[in-house]
Amino acid sequence: MQRRTFMAATASATTAATARAQSQGDKIRLGVIGCGRRGRSNLRSVLKLTDDIEVVAISEVFKPNLELTLEMVPDARVYPDFRELIAADDIDAVLIATPDHWHAYMSVEACKAGKDVYVEKPISVTVHEGQMMVKAARKYNRVVQVGTQQRSGKHFQEAKDIVQSGRLGSISYVRTWNYSNAYPEGIGVPPDTDPPPDLDWDMWLGPAPERSFNKNRFGVNPYSFAHFRWFWDYAGGMMTDWGIHLLDIVLWAMAEPGPRSICTYGGKYALTDNRETPDTIQATYEFPAFVCTYENRVANAYAGGLPGYGIQFHGTEGTLYVNRRYWEITPEQRRYREPEPRVENRMKAARGEASNATTDDHWRDFIYAVRNRSKPICDIEIGHKSTAMALLGNVSMRSRQRMDWDPVAETTSNKEAQTYLQSEYRPPWKLEL
Ligand SMILES: NC(=O)c1ccc[n+]([C@@H]2O[C@H](COP(=O)([O-])OP(=O)(O)OC[C@H]3O[C@@H](n4cnc5c(N)ncnc54)[C@H](O)[C@@H]3O)[C@@H](O)[C@H]2O)c1
Repeated sequence: MQRRTFMAATASATTAATARAQSQGDKIRLGVIGCGRRGRSNLRSVLKLTDDIEVVAISEVFKPNLELTLEMVPDARVYPDFRELIAADDIDAVLIATPDHWHAYMSVEACKAGKDVYVEKPISVTVHEGQMMVKAARKYNRVVQVGTQQRSGKHFQEAKDIVQSGRLGSISYVRTWNYSNAYPEGIGVPPDTDPPPDLDWDMWLGPAPERSFNKNRFGVNPYSFAHFRWFWDYAGGMMTDWGIHLLDIVLWAMAEPGPRSICTYGGKYALTDNRETPDTIQATYEFPAFVCTYENRVANAYAGGLPGYGIQFHGTEGTLYVNRRYWEITPEQRRYREPEPRVENRMKAARGEASNATTDDHWRDFIYAVRNRSKPICDIEIGHKSTAMALLGNVSMRSRQRMDWDPVAETTSNKEAQTYLQSEYRPPWKLEL
């Protein structure tokens, strides 16, 4: 009760402070929560924008990552407990770059405390968490940007415009994929141990179920992105780690709020490590006028002569392929039956290259939205819809159901699938507005 009263008082104080900072054109004072690989790569973008934004505080539960971050921002205050950072009244906005299972709780609490939020993708581990994040942003009138930075890529914007222009004709199929090969041992099978002394494991677990420390569950390592991604309590495997980046562009370009039904097959067929998420997955999404697939393999990287990841929009006049480096149009070679006259395909082959640093510009967009109290390019509701599409791919696979979906009401009539839309938080953590 005391804490709530304190937080309410803080909320009005920080809202006033934020308004003051903006009206004077002052720098936005940023607090960073989660200083792993992505936290620090976000910081590199933020440090290019020092006329507008400064990092005043950081919170991290793993000392080596804290130390690496302090090398980048030596003057930042350190908060071992992120709740104190969120409550500080001289912070205007927070970056949340922790593992996925923390995103919802931290975002909602930050909104309650009057902070604007830049939260990494995927925004949540369940659909319910995402709904709560949208509600919190609206209720407390906060700017919440989601780290699906491809939308700030100029060539992604061109690709979206091409799809929407109708030049590709009628698009009946959209394909997304990413492949790699970690066969056979993948991330290995390390035993459970005591947590390392420089990590607050309980605070890392937070609302997730209590578990013994396992090197892979924590997953921070010098060679790759952390392996928490491959455990259901903290994330959703490739489907939500990479799938969301690809599916986000599909929803945007096709101007759709979400699929009407989902059917996914997948499993862990080849890898021998202790990951829980599949090494092979194929999600099929049904929309009113097209089908979309997401396909991932972690045990075979053959991509049929194409790059190892991407998005293809297949239209009656041509196909558009886009990835982080370029887009390319391949016209259809149509065959006509005699005696129909042969008609020249109006489509021409074309290609456009990436021309800007997407994460830098995503932060510029966030700064603009904070200053103007407008919605950012990946407003929380957009990030929620894209996250939900990826999450539902897993829900269908895990419940072994072909599930219907109402993308506006965000409901399914499928009882088995419903049980995967929300999860219990470990006490004392509570997700509440
Ligand atoms: N937008 C992108 O292109 C992109 C790229 C990579 C990662 N990401 C996202 O960024 C997030 C982080 O990924 P990562 O690879 O950097 O993971 P990571 O494990 O390297 O970093 C997360 C950090 O958060 C810290 N942390 C955990 N609980 C904390 C707590 N309670 N308080 C403070 N710090 C805490 C961890 O100790 C760790 O240092 C994920 O959600 C991931 O999906 C986005």
